[in-house]
Amino acid sequence: MSTREDISAMRRQYGEIGLKESDLPSEPISLFNSWLNEAAANEVVVEANAMVLSTVSENIPSSRTVLLKDLTSEGFTFFTNYGSSKAKAIEENASVSLLFPWYPMERQVIINGSAKKIARQDSEKYFATRPRASQIGAWASEQSTVLSSREELEKKFKEFEGKWPADSQIPTPPGWGGFIVNPTSIEFWQGRYSRLHDRIRYLRTPDNNWQRVRLNP
Ligand SMILES: Cc1cc2nc3c(=O)[nH]c(=O)nc-3n(C[C@H](O)[C@H](O)[C@H](O)COP(=O)(O)O)c2cc1C
Repeated sequence: MSTREDISAMRRQYGEIGLKESDLPSEPISLFNSWLNEAAANEVVVEANAMVLSTVSENIPSSRTVLLKDLTSEGFTFFTNYGSSKAKAIEENASVSLLFPWYPMERQVIINGSAKKIARQDSEKYFATRPRASQIGAWASEQSTVLSSREELEKKFKEFEGKWPADSQIPTPPGWGGFIVNPTSIEFWQGRYSRLHDRIRYLRTPDNNWQRVRLNP
């Protein structure tokens, strides 16, 4: 177990590879895509597409991990239960933040933006590609609500498992689907020596272009 001294002494020497203005694209999505591909190719990074989604409900922030499942110029898509705490928070306040913590690469990306539900047919298209057990799991779990026991969940799983013949297609639960986060800012953080890290933030302009600024680390 770490003592408080051990924790305060945790420190890494960050690398020389930085973010040079001359190498940066005028928009952030292509840079994000290269970083995501590099993270996915890095054996030490587990679940490169995992991102921490933060929402605010009644002025109280909350965070949890979700998986990025699609990325277009429109935004970042993840899938979840539409009755979950996060979905209810988004209904109340569409402003969200996404954070990709690629620590082994000394990198972090933070995206702020606005979330909305994706088209039903796009949720159905993705649901159809999921493994059967995950599809049944989506039917069985009333995400974020209280369970009386583990057995209650497993019983519900079995009930839904028996509902559809083994080789039949499982329909998408009505309360399940995707959200897309349309970014208003995307910040790339790259660790550098002497804590002189690089922080490059792209901000969306009113005419839908991107402005780029460098921030103090
Ligand atoms: C690596 C990882 C990936 C996850 N991916 C998802 C996901 O894509 N969608 C989802 O609803 N929950 C996902 N979860 C579970 C969420 O973090 C969270 O527990 C759940 O969505 C309930 O959140 P809520 O009660 O705040 O709505 C993931 C958890 C981890 C650790």
